[in-house]
Amino acid sequence: MMTDVPRKHRVLVVDDDASVLVSLALLLRQSGFEVLTCEDPDRALAILAAHSMDLVLQDMNFSPQTSGEEGLALLARIKEQHPGLPVLLMTAWGSIALAVKGVKVGAADFFTKPWHNAQLVELVNTTLELAVPATAGRLDRQALDAQLDLRGIIGQHPEILKVLSTLGRVARTRAPVLILGESGTGKELIADAIHRNSPRAGKPLVKINMGAITSSLFESEMFGHVKGAFTDARSDRTGHVASAHEGTLFLDEIGELNRADQVKLLRVLQDHSYRPVGASRSEQADIRVVSATNRELAEAVAAGDFREDLFYRLNLITIRLPPLRERRSDIPLIANHLVATLAGDYGLGEVTLAPGAMQWLASQSWPGNIRQLRQTVERTLLLAGKRVLEQQDFLDAEPGEDAPAHTDVRVDGLTLEQVERLMIDRMLEQHQGNISRVAKALGLSRAALYRRLDKHGLGDAGDEGSGGDEA
Ligand SMILES: Nc1ncnc2c1ncn2[C@@H]1O[C@H](COP(=O)(O)OP(=O)(O)OP(=O)(O)O)[C@@H](O)[C@H]1O
Ligand SMILES: [Mg+2]
Repeated sequence: MMTDVPRKHRVLVVDDDASVLVSLALLLRQSGFEVLTCEDPDRALAILAAHSMDLVLQDMNFSPQTSGEEGLALLARIKEQHPGLPVLLMTAWGSIALAVKGVKVGAADFFTKPWHNAQLVELVNTTLELAVPATAGRLDRQALDAQLDLRGIIGQHPEILKVLSTLGRVARTRAPVLILGESGTGKELIADAIHRNSPRAGKPLVKINMGAITSSLFESEMFGHVKGAFTDARSDRTGHVASAHEGTLFLDEIGELNRADQVKLLRVLQDHSYRPVGASRSEQADIRVVSATNRELAEAVAAGDFREDLFYRLNLITIRLPPLRERRSDIPLIANHLVATLAGDYGLGEVTLAPGAMQWLASQSWPGNIRQLRQTVERTLLLAGKRVLEQQDFLDAEPGEDAPAHTDVRVDGLTLEQVERLMIDRMLEQHQGNISRVAKALGLSRAALYRRLDKHGLGDAGDEGSGGDEA
């Protein structure tokens, strides 16, 4: 709650180039900030010691021949003396690696010179907003529900409450959010909620499975093409980026994107401009990017599989979803919710879980997380056909290793396509929908499996319309 009169935010700009200081000061003052400027690091530290500032914009190079060490040193001193003060780095195009280094040691973000005025102001606003300390006191689900529409997201484990509180703070900004978590932990559900609780809620949420895009079609799918751009381009096509204009672009399975396509994505994230294939000029899109992956992206960066600059473009905010086994206290709530909604969907009236069944559910390891729990409940509900589900009903409904009939596919009279579909279907069932395991069992990459799931219409059990659906 705001009790005192809101004051203007104070920004300190540090750069040895006087013309940069003049134009940034002008821009920021016009945008309603109070601005102080100075040309060298020592002076900057003196100002910070004497005035209370809300944000620092600092250059990385303070003399022509340096490698940016002075910039990093200044950043380190600021973080040491004012740990909570957000710092944005300014850097030339050629030295993004340096800025990335700066983000690792505590800078909030970086931007490149020359900058785009509106984007810079937005970055400053977002950074200030996120710097506000998390709501003091204990988090509770009711308080969160009062402020946010968290429909369908069940849970009140402290780890989930943290996730939801972060979601609430970032939803209203345009900051890119990276959602990490094992398969089936609810990453897509969180992405949906970010969009729903954002000022962009009335605009499209475009979902693209990066693992399912064929590399040769990447630019055409993402950026669109003009008629005649290539042999098959018989008419203009709007790309996903343009479709998401003023809305949210959800880049699912971002960890599956190959390095060549990573570069193409970087540009649009960097300056929100893109060029449709065959078009003569670039277009601007106002998009908010949310991405998700079940890979540990920082490790992919370390292994050289994922571009570091792209990683830092995606993860201004990282939301980590805990696996279900680390939030077991939520299992009863989620299980009850699933039984009630699934029974409703199937028109089965009121169905409940016996205490023994609940204990059994709460003690399982759930490698496929909530998706697996959902499938288990759904299967048992249908097979048992009872009003009260007992532990034994769950045991009876388990596919189990002693059921070879399940994988023993009869293929006489089927086309190759049909056999493929059948195999994938069986494997999905056997591995409780765990995509990584199914891919492994079938000897396919995740990307290749996604393409086949798309082709056969075997996506997630009908709970969403995906953006990547026109292929
Ligand atoms: N907190 C929750 N409460 C209720 N249902 C949930 C919750 N989290 C996830 N689910 C359900 O679990 C299923 C899997 O969720 P989702 O598709 O968001 O997972 P994911 O993390 O994107 O998985 P993957 O990495 O395999 O794509 C969905 O049916 C979703 O509705
Ligand atoms: Mg998903």
